[in-house]
Amino acid sequence: MLPESIIFGGWPMGGWHWSDVDEKTAIQAAIAAAEAGVTWFDTAPVYGFGLGEQRLRRALKNIGSPVRIMTKFGLRWDVDGTPFFETTFNGQKKIVVRYFSPASIRMECEESLKRLGVESIDLYQLHWDDGRTSLVEAAETLEQLRKEGKIKEWGVCNLNTGALHSLVSVGVKPASLQFRYSLLNRKPENSLIPYCRKHKIHFLAYSPLGRGLLTGNASTERAFEPEDDRKYWKPEKIADINRKLASLASIAERYGIGIPALILAWTLNQPGISGAIAGARTPGQARTNAKAVSVQLTSDEITFISGLFAR
Ligand SMILES: NC(=O)c1ccc[n+]([C@@H]2O[C@H](COP(=O)([O-])OP(=O)(O)OC[C@H]3O[C@@H](n4cnc5c(N)ncnc54)[C@H](OP(=O)(O)O)[C@@H]3O)[C@@H](O)[C@H]2O)c1
Repeated sequence: MLPESIIFGGWPMGGWHWSDVDEKTAIQAAIAAAEAGVTWFDTAPVYGFGLGEQRLRRALKNIGSPVRIMTKFGLRWDVDGTPFFETTFNGQKKIVVRYFSPASIRMECEESLKRLGVESIDLYQLHWDDGRTSLVEAAETLEQLRKEGKIKEWGVCNLNTGALHSLVSVGVKPASLQFRYSLLNRKPENSLIPYCRKHKIHFLAYSPLGRGLLTGNASTERAFEPEDDRKYWKPEKIADINRKLASLASIAERYGIGIPALILAWTLNQPGISGAIAGARTPGQARTNAKAVSVQLTSDEITFISGLFAR
């Protein structure tokens, strides 16, 4: 059973690429999300090079209710190959390579099971395609892992419509597609989301808060760490978005929620969106974001919000 609502985004838990993340707060954020009713948690080995999954395991120990985990494979930092990107984590250089041979998928699955402390991964996803490795062969391995009970379902991330069709056209269907989608990035509406709707593939929107730009809290005052891409945000862009968000305050008040939950509610109210994966660094953010599920916006409100950001 795949999600139909807010999913906890576990990238900040890894402490890599997100400034100022301490373990205690990260774990409390996941616990707060579960207490607020969130049942799905997204993570990946590359989020903190194993640390994100380990911290999620520590959080799970303190979560009494049943939850489901989605994690990923296909980004390795311990093999040679063409670099996908280079980064630094805890002062160490990491060269990340896209790699998902059948043996590598199996090895990564075992590692994630151990780090997460679970017997089965609820949704196992290809993180990034490399344009060379056979997706059909990867799918065969995933089907075997499913039959062995190591995973329950499998999905993909960041595939374009053509790559997705290369699977679907030979009768191989992922359960889900994770892709960046928000008021600031509506491109997937052109082809990807309609394709997923047609083929009943769950579309899971990641970065629905524009990595924080759509929360109303983005500011030029904040100093980001060198590995945090948000240091490239332009002051004019922040000011323009904050102005637009300020004009949504009365709608948010009507529902007794804040701007972040309103933006997430807009996302969930879009046709073809199964879930919004919202990153939360603190318990307060996790609680605020979880409120989005209870909001059913009117069509006038949706049109107003969409129009504001189309300009
Ligand atoms: N499959 C993929 O390739 C892929 C790629 C990217 C992300 N993802 C997944 O999607 C998740 C979400 O994407 P994302 O983390 O890139 O971006 P996002 O959800 O758009 O933004 C998350 C960030 O916004 C800020 N924020 C969140 N809730 C807030 C609130 N209520 N009030 C104020 N600020 C708030 C926090 O940053 P600060 O507190 O630092 O401001 C938080 O870390 C990730 O965690 C990850 O699980 C997947």
